[in-house]
Amino acid sequence: MTDIPLNLREHGMMIGLPDGEAYFNYYWLRDACISCIDPQTRERVFDASELAKPPRASSAMIDGDMLVIAWHDEAQASRVPMSLLAQVARDGRAPDPAALPRKLWYSNHLPAIARVDQSAVLETEAGLARLTRALIEDGIAVVTGMDKTSEALPRLVNSIGSVTPSAEGLFFDVRVEVEPTNLAFTAGPLEMHTDLPGEENAPGVQFLHCLENTVEGGFSLFLDGAAVAEALRSEDPDAFELLATHDIPFFYRHNNWDYRAHQRVIETDPEGSVTGVTISQHLQDTIDLPQEFLDSYYPAFIKFIRMMRQERFLLRFRSEAGNCVVFDNHRIVHGREGYVAESGSRHLRGCYTDRGALRSTYRVLAGKGFDGSAEVPERQVSA
Ligand SMILES: [Fe+2]
Repeated sequence: MTDIPLNLREHGMMIGLPDGEAYFNYYWLRDACISCIDPQTRERVFDASELAKPPRASSAMIDGDMLVIAWHDEAQASRVPMSLLAQVARDGRAPDPAALPRKLWYSNHLPAIARVDQSAVLETEAGLARLTRALIEDGIAVVTGMDKTSEALPRLVNSIGSVTPSAEGLFFDVRVEVEPTNLAFTAGPLEMHTDLPGEENAPGVQFLHCLENTVEGGFSLFLDGAAVAEALRSEDPDAFELLATHDIPFFYRHNNWDYRAHQRVIETDPEGSVTGVTISQHLQDTIDLPQEFLDSYYPAFIKFIRMMRQERFLLRFRSEAGNCVVFDNHRIVHGREGYVAESGSRHLRGCYTDRGALRSTYRVLAGKGFDGSAEVPERQVSA
């Protein structure tokens, strides 16, 4: 038994922890008892709403690394890990290995983009951890050495999560089409955008597998939307606030679909950190905010779009056959320079998975000791 200060109150208790005393609610402590989780299914098997009376501690003590609480109206004591209490007192939540800080990047990021060989991703936990960590921290990575087959892409995606469908189905092909449903399927330039903001939840992680690229021009463009948003915040806080607190409409329409959704141009988490952006001039609907409000909203919006054209943010990347660019569609804004369709062939195959699957995969790997911080040497695979 360890002697640390415990102070029982009516609805909770004060607990002395390494960083100081902290208050914990009795319902929360009852819910945090390790017996509430079934060891087999790992699901919660305790329902606090079934308690006849609100839980109230009669005594509490420290036993090794556990806080042991006896309750007034229950025969069984609760055991709560002290490490959890210390973590929650410090951060307000349980530990999450996937809660890695975003590393903002700028136009000079190309040499630093994580490049992981397909075989390392598919065959080693270290390779998959490297890829998923880069996607969480940087929002972008390149998988090299991809097989030039239609099966290579689903194999890669499934190492992270299930393919999530869009209006185009599970997969889409980016190449010149006779009757295009999207500007991407032409040879023209494609302005900086995030994909499919007209969907209720825009796709999370995008994969673009380059099967062929022999055309003149057609460079892919990427930028870190979170970096641009943070730059806007420091240069024009009022503009940032407008874009971070109001939704505007987007759509995706063609013969057989009519998607519509409202999105915030700048997404922030409860702490105010930028988690992503939503931008698409070609899929933006007529803004339905009050007209007088637009007198201030539009200038902020235009300023943000123009910032995205500044060289300090833009990364030019030539898609090469055998590479697959993977990026967070809620953070990384992408586009394409126009190209000469007659100069060769350009064919990218794409699909999506969601960001929850990305973080889930990373947590499992981190739990096995693969945190993805180590470089994984690129190696050539035989075709
Ligand atoms: Fe796109």
